[in-house]
Amino acid sequence: MEADAPVIGNPGIVIRPSSDADVSAMIGIYEHHIRRGVGDTGDFEEERLLPDDLKRRRKTMRKKRLPHLVAERNGEVAGYAYAVPFRKRPAYRYTLKHSIYVHPGHLHAGIGRRLLPALIEACAAGGYRQMIGYIDAKNEASLRLHEACGFVQVGRLPSVGYKFGRWSDSVMVQCPLGLGSETQPATWSRPVEELIAGHDWGQE
Ligand SMILES: CC(C)(COP(=O)(O)OP(=O)(O)OC[C@H]1O[C@@H](n2cnc3c(N)ncnc32)[C@H](O)[C@@H]1OP(=O)(O)O)[C@@H](O)C(=O)NCCC(=O)NCCS
Repeated sequence: MEADAPVIGNPGIVIRPSSDADVSAMIGIYEHHIRRGVGDTGDFEEERLLPDDLKRRRKTMRKKRLPHLVAERNGEVAGYAYAVPFRKRPAYRYTLKHSIYVHPGHLHAGIGRRLLPALIEACAAGGYRQMIGYIDAKNEASLRLHEACGFVQVGRLPSVGYKFGRWSDSVMVQCPLGLGSETQPATWSRPVEELIAGHDWGQE
C-alpha cells in the first residue's frame, strides 16, 4: 500500500486505491476469471496481462484522474475495479467504461456491493458524467450487482461473444455519475487521489 493512500471503509472490507504491491494479486484474480469465463480459445492466444503492463496502466490512469481501486477483506486483496475512457475521441471525455473482478474465494460476500459504489463515487468526484458497462447476458451476478448499484440496461448486443462453444450476447448498462447530463461539465483541476481522499465515503 502506498504511504499516502487514503484508507476507506470498515475493518472487514476496506476500499482503497490500488498500489504496485497489489499487482500480482490483481493479476491472479483476473487470470482466474478470464480462464473460467471464456473456455477453450483454440489457437487464439489470450493476451496475458503482465505485471509491468498493469503497473504502466495504473500510472497512466492516475495521470488521467481515473480511479483504480482494490477491496481488501481481512488484509487480503479480495477484488479490484477501475474505469477507463469509454472512447478515445474528445467528445466522449466525460464518459467511462469500467471493469470489476472479485477474488474467487470472496464471491457473494458483499465485495462487489462495496467496490462498485466506491468506483462510481470516485469517478463522479473526478468530474465524469456517465459510466458504461458491458455484461455477458448470462452473468446473473454482475447483472444483479449493477442493477443494485443504479445501472440500467440500455442495450443488448446479440452474439458478439463466443464462449464455451456458443455465441453470447452482451448487455450494455449505464449509470449517470453525479449530476449526469443535468448540468454542463466542470473543468478538472485536481488529481483523483485528492478527490478520493477528500470524499466522505461513509461507514457500513
Ligand atoms: C460480478 C461480481 C463482480 C460480483 O461480485 P460479488 O462480490 O460476488 O457481489 P456481491 O457479493 O457484492 O453481491 C452483489 C449482488 O450480486 C448478486 N450476486 C452475487 N453473486 C451472485 C451469484 N453467484 N448468483 C446470483 N447473484 C449473485 C446478488 O444479487 C448480490 O446482491 P445481494 O446483496 O442482494 O445478494 C463477481 O461475481 C465477479 O467478479 N465475477 C467475475 C468477473 C465479472 O463477471 N465481472 C463483471 C464483468 S461485467
